[in-house]
Amino acid sequence: MIAENTLDEIRVEIAQCQRCPLAAGRKNTVPGEGPIDAEIMFIGEGPGYYENEQGLPFVGQAGKFLDELLASANLKREAVFITNVVKCRPPGNRDPMPEELEACASYLDRQISAINPKVIVTLGRHSMGKYFTNAKISLIHGKATWVKGRLIVAMYHPAAGLHQPNLKPTIMADFRKLPDMILQAKKSEEIQKTAQQNDEETQHEDPTQLSFF
Ligand code: URA
Repeated sequence: MIAENTLDEIRVEIAQCQRCPLAAGRKNTVPGEGPIDAEIMFIGEGPGYYENEQGLPFVGQAGKFLDELLASANLKREAVFITNVVKCRPPGNRDPMPEELEACASYLDRQISAINPKVIVTLGRHSMGKYFTNAKISLIHGKATWVKGRLIVAMYHPAAGLHQPNLKPTIMADFRKLPDMILQAKKSEEIQKTAQQNDEETQHEDPTQLSFF
């Protein structure tokens, strides 16, 4: 499958990447994981200590909470794609710098094109910034917006729920909206496909027959 190859190629390129200074401090790159046909993609910020050790996204404390959140939304971790805006660990888990985000951006864009998810969930401020510049997460969390034919939803980062337990119920409530959002995105895709088919059929109709109407 072409898209699957593409995802593998991106992974190999990330493994060799020297585009920014984060490359020097990494143990492993963390390209992300999940199936090529994932309907939903989660974009976090960047690998932390355990992710850097294992080369896998969200395997530390925040990852455990993410697993709970996915289960509460009836989503299987193996069925979703999970990645980050930067694929190497920022030292001491600091925020990624604008030049690091910039250097890594095309990997994420290519992953999105290869997977073509129906819904994208951004986790935290930096991934929210990819779609919603200058937005306030406290105002837009859990609200779905159509961007280029797919639904984008900004959510609090799971680590925020661990640091501020009062946010936990809000994060959980936002996650529970996801099955409906996936359904909505699928329906819209079907409607568009049908409209396109109808258009194509109309274009191919015999002009002599059309003249009867
Ligand atoms: N936090 C993130 O944003 N990403 C990870 O992969 C782990 C923790």
